[in-house]
Amino acid sequence: MGTKIVKLETELCNARLRNPTILASGVLGVSASVLVRAAREGGAGAVTTKSCCLQPRRGHSNPVMLPLPRSASFINAVGLSNPGAEEEAREIAAAKRELDAARLRAPLIASFFGASAAEFAEVARVLAAAKPSLLEANVSCPNVESDLGRPFAFDARACTRIVEEVKAAAPRIPLSVKLSPNAPNIVDVALACEEAGADAVTAVNTLGPGMVISAEAHAPVLSNKVGGVSGAALKPIALRCVYSLYEKLEIPIIGTGGIASGRDAIEMLEAGASAVGIGTAVYDRGLTVFSLVCEEMASWMKENGFGRTSDLVGLAHEKK
Ligand SMILES: Cc1cc2nc3c(=O)[nH]c(=O)nc-3n(C[C@H](O)[C@H](O)[C@H](O)COP(=O)(O)O)c2cc1C
Repeated sequence: MGTKIVKLETELCNARLRNPTILASGVLGVSASVLVRAAREGGAGAVTTKSCCLQPRRGHSNPVMLPLPRSASFINAVGLSNPGAEEEAREIAAAKRELDAARLRAPLIASFFGASAAEFAEVARVLAAAKPSLLEANVSCPNVESDLGRPFAFDARACTRIVEEVKAAAPRIPLSVKLSPNAPNIVDVALACEEAGADAVTAVNTLGPGMVISAEAHAPVLSNKVGGVSGAALKPIALRCVYSLYEKLEIPIIGTGGIASGRDAIEMLEAGASAVGIGTAVYDRGLTVFSLVCEEMASWMKENGFGRTSDLVGLAHEKK
């Protein structure tokens, strides 16, 4: 029951992607050149910047990131280091120019955060000037406290205010909200975002926080002591989140968490994602992980008789 032609092109909030793989935020840093490389050499269908805020921010001191042995997973507490919104807007504009010059259709997603709804809106206004294809509001970093004393992603009312203020500040750029797998009420938070005008959600950010201890040093290894867990350990939780979100939401979902192979990506689409974010697997499989995942997806789809990725979205749900 094979099919001859497989098309991986997909659409997300009016942006056309040549394939559904997206470089997840933060994994390769902030510079334009690395985003362009992920699209040009790596084959990513879209690329996301590292989250930035209004003012430059140093982040935590090293060590900020560790592989978790025998698990294809990572733990990190980078502390959202970034050069500030003005500089990031310049990087986005430069990356867009390079992608256009290379005639590469790879939408650019600008990730950002703030300490209040007003700061989220201010950062969005600065970034919108560089005309990214999508804004991604990171309300869910597990290592940094908001002015609520916990991530905004746990609080549907706080997320409503953020979405409303960002949409007022940057009405022309579609907005995705990056959700937390740690929120006990992820679906309620997502519904609040949708109702407030969000155009998509990204599910999910890292899990935790978790901890790694050095038996010999008798101490936690990360300078921040705790960090967010990503990669294979996160995948079943990310799948469950996306599956629950798809049952209730109308807006598209960028499914992120533990995607490292074509089969992982297919499972995430079947859970209900329209596109897949890839982060930790870049460290394991290299920058061309996006092309590899696409090749694996295409051969699975060929064997199993699926011609388009959109035919897979939500397939794991019971037929009504
Ligand atoms: C080193 C590192 C830095 C990250 N920085 C950010 C960030 O700045 N903003 C954000 O929204 N997510 C950030 N993330 C989370 C990823 O974008 C992604 O949601 C998460 O790692 C799960 O995907 P994965 O299992 O494919 O890595 C970071 C993850 C890692 C490993």
